[in-house]
Amino acid sequence: MAVPTPVSPFADPTIGRRYEEKVALVTGAASGIGKATALRLAAEGASVWCADVNTEGAQATAAEIGEHGGRARASGADVSEPEACAALVGGTVEAFGGLDVLCNIAGIGGSAHFTEESPDRMRAMMAVNAFGPFYLIQAAMPQLLERTGNVVNLASTAGVIGQAYCTAYCASKHALVGLTKALAIEYGRTGVRFNAVCPGGVNTNILGGFLPPEGASMSLISRSFLTRDMQEPESVAAMVAYVGSDEAYYVNGAVLSIDGGTTTG
Ligand SMILES: NC(=O)c1ccc[n+]([C@@H]2O[C@H](COP(=O)([O-])OP(=O)(O)OC[C@H]3O[C@@H](n4cnc5c(N)ncnc54)[C@H](O)[C@@H]3O)[C@@H](O)[C@H]2O)c1
Repeated sequence: MAVPTPVSPFADPTIGRRYEEKVALVTGAASGIGKATALRLAAEGASVWCADVNTEGAQATAAEIGEHGGRARASGADVSEPEACAALVGGTVEAFGGLDVLCNIAGIGGSAHFTEESPDRMRAMMAVNAFGPFYLIQAAMPQLLERTGNVVNLASTAGVIGQAYCTAYCASKHALVGLTKALAIEYGRTGVRFNAVCPGGVNTNILGGFLPPEGASMSLISRSFLTRDMQEPESVAAMVAYVGSDEAYYVNGAVLSIDGGTTTG
């Protein structure tokens, strides 16, 4: 099947209303997968707090939700800062009365030869991609326990397999997957769920940072891509929306690939 042309979830008669009465906090909501997820959850009935380091972008997403009759608020926040994460959870609970689904989607990436990867960039990727979700989940835990909520962590194929010239990114996404699995077990008996969605090849801004570094071996890079076409962020948002919904009540600790088969064997 060809890559479908994205349709606004508010104009898509095939989607359900699985998020009536639910509250979601979505990071990375200014663009790409985070934006598509915020729109999707709102279209399914959720009240959505849109968070992003790009404040204007987050506000634009919330405004778009409002224009369609949905409920959303927005704020600028850097998820690598624990105080900002606590404030996001506090703001969401204050505005909407609770929190049911935390979608950790904000992320940064980039490629480099390992010997040229800088410790600062390694720290930055760990800070946003792994510590951000760690801070947010810690802050959200009381609410998630009270409402038997769940967490969807946006990892990557780079959280499932190794990828050449992506040491820092791979390390950060494997950390996120490990965090997800450990929490799923620690809280398994409470009903609070933790899952990782692992896409490959999504047509978004982040890809600009993943150009092959000079002198890269294309045969090593091509190992990471099986499909001819990129998927659109809406297809990943649809998977996030399923995993975060009550329909997925038995999905816990799962590492769900959506990558056209790239991580198959
Ligand atoms: N595009 C892909 O092919 C792909 C594949 C696998 C995983 N992912 C992951 O998907 C997630 C979303 O990325 P995307 O593809 O939509 O790219 P994107 O660049 O469009 O979106 C990332 C968003 O995160 C925000 N962000 C970055 N640093 C932040 C911070 N410190 N605090 C708060 N927000 C911050 C950005 O402003 C941006 O809006 C990322 O975690 C990324 O690693 C993307």
